[in-house]
Amino acid sequence: MVLEITQYGNPVLRKKCSKIEVVDDDIRKLADDMIETMEDAQGVGLAAPQIDKDIRMAVVDVSHDPECISFLKVNGADAKMEDVMPLVFINPELELDGPREIETEGCLSIRDIQAKVKRPSIVKALLPQLDGSVLVIEADGLLARALQHEVDHLNGILFVDRISPAAKVSVKRKLKRLGN
Ligand code: NI
Repeated sequence: MVLEITQYGNPVLRKKCSKIEVVDDDIRKLADDMIETMEDAQGVGLAAPQIDKDIRMAVVDVSHDPECISFLKVNGADAKMEDVMPLVFINPELELDGPREIETEGCLSIRDIQAKVKRPSIVKALLPQLDGSVLVIEADGLLARALQHEVDHLNGILFVDRISPAAKVSVKRKLKRLGN
């Protein structure tokens, strides 16, 4: 089922989401709906607060562009994107590495705004799965960026919080028009 995506100004987007202690049928259904919602919106990621749930779960899929990363390791071994996408994870932990890179980002909850955001280029992500196993994903490029963007959502942080002071001026004006 495609869910409604919460938009900028909704307080749920500013919540620090709570850890998921028990994976039940509701959580599994929600994960399926989040994937469907992300695909319907043609996004590369979606976090639970974006569907109005303040829990630590997100989905990511960057497999539309095989060139968007230069490497991918899953549990220590070289892997292909299609082996793990779409990614669903709960209670993620990230280790950030590499030089910081600037790329343009957008967000399904902040329509019409795109801005350059500087982030570490390499991520090692511990991603607990719904079945209790843990995926360890190491990657760079868009996957590293999307994971950071989604984990930010689980902490109530939006990409517009991370843009440079210079770019912030014009973005602030646009955000005001979105009603906040
Ligand atoms: Ni977002």
